[in-house]
Amino acid sequence: MASSIIISFALLACTLWLTTSTSSAQLTTGFYSKTCPKVFHTVGSVVRSAVSKEKRMGASLLRLHFHDCFVNGCDGSILLDDTSSFTGEKTSFANNNSVRGYNVIDDIKSKVEKVCPGVVSCADILAITARESVVALGGPSWKVKLGRRDSKSASLSDANSGVIPPPSSTLSNLRNRFRAVGLSTKDLVALSGAHTIGQARCTTFRARVYNDTNIDASFAKLRRSNCPLPAATSDNNRVPFDVKTPNYFDNNYYKN
Ligand code: HEM
Ligand SMILES: *[C@@H]1O[C@H](CO)[C@@H](O)[C@H](O)[C@H]1NC(C)=O
Ligand SMILES: *[C@@H]1O[C@H](CO)[C@@H](O)[C@H](O)[C@H]1NC(C)=O
Repeated sequence: MASSIIISFALLACTLWLTTSTSSAQLTTGFYSKTCPKVFHTVGSVVRSAVSKEKRMGASLLRLHFHDCFVNGCDGSILLDDTSSFTGEKTSFANNNSVRGYNVIDDIKSKVEKVCPGVVSCADILAITARESVVALGGPSWKVKLGRRDSKSASLSDANSGVIPPPSSTLSNLRNRFRAVGLSTKDLVALSGAHTIGQARCTTFRARVYNDTNIDASFAKLRRSNCPLPAATSDNNRVPFDVKTPNYFDNNYYKN
């Protein structure tokens, strides 16, 4: 009896170990310290040159990492073009005509491949690029944990399943979508601060500035003037999220 319990526990422990070791291997900051120590410098220099040409690119690159991670994990799948065997994430509601910066990632990847061929995953490149972009726009730095593996396929239907919350989301949907990937409400609030940089199209917020009363009146008026009716004439007009310092990664998302 005692021994069969011990065997059951041993089996359970084994199963748990197998599950966790295959599905969530630990990431480490030093993952490439032997195999590609120059990866940070290589990514950083391409990001800095892209951002100096166009400040908004820093915002676009940061968002790529978010949209990659929220669809089946941070696995580089957002970068995959459609193939004969799958339709990928690029044409999903949240990404089509919205996510940008793929060409900069291609440039980074090819430079990283020259320095350390076949070593660094695209998913890690997105994670490093996000950090370098925030730093390039004057924001804080952080240590990036590495060791992500790239997906070999991508799924349009997964990208469209609601895992990336739409801008019309209720607070409870936002909290649920973040909780579903292990992020707390505090994480939701902190990560939303990324909207201190970058731009949004009128189509994503028009209903709010025309209909809602819980917005600063002069701000709503300004945004209505940026997004005149009929909607079709201004759907693709873009405005900065942060009216004060749109190209600077600061605290103005909260202060505004
Ligand atoms: C909390 C849920 C979120 C919602 C509902 C949301 C929604 C949006 C929307 C509607 C846009 C404008 C897209 C367009 O006009 O085409 C946008 C842009 C952006 N988002 Fe978010 N977002 C969220 C979270 C995040 C997170 C977690 C990050 C990064 C940490 C992020 C970073 C950005 C950036 C930087 C832009 C500007 C991109 C550019 O100018 O190219 N967002 N977001
Ligand atoms: C994506 O955008 C293009 C226009 O740039 C459009 O032709 C196409 O129909 C869109 N795809 C989807 C799935 O909405
Ligand atoms: C105001 O809200 C209604 C109902 O949700 C919506 O149909 C309408 O398009 C909104 N107005 C604008 C200008 O977006």
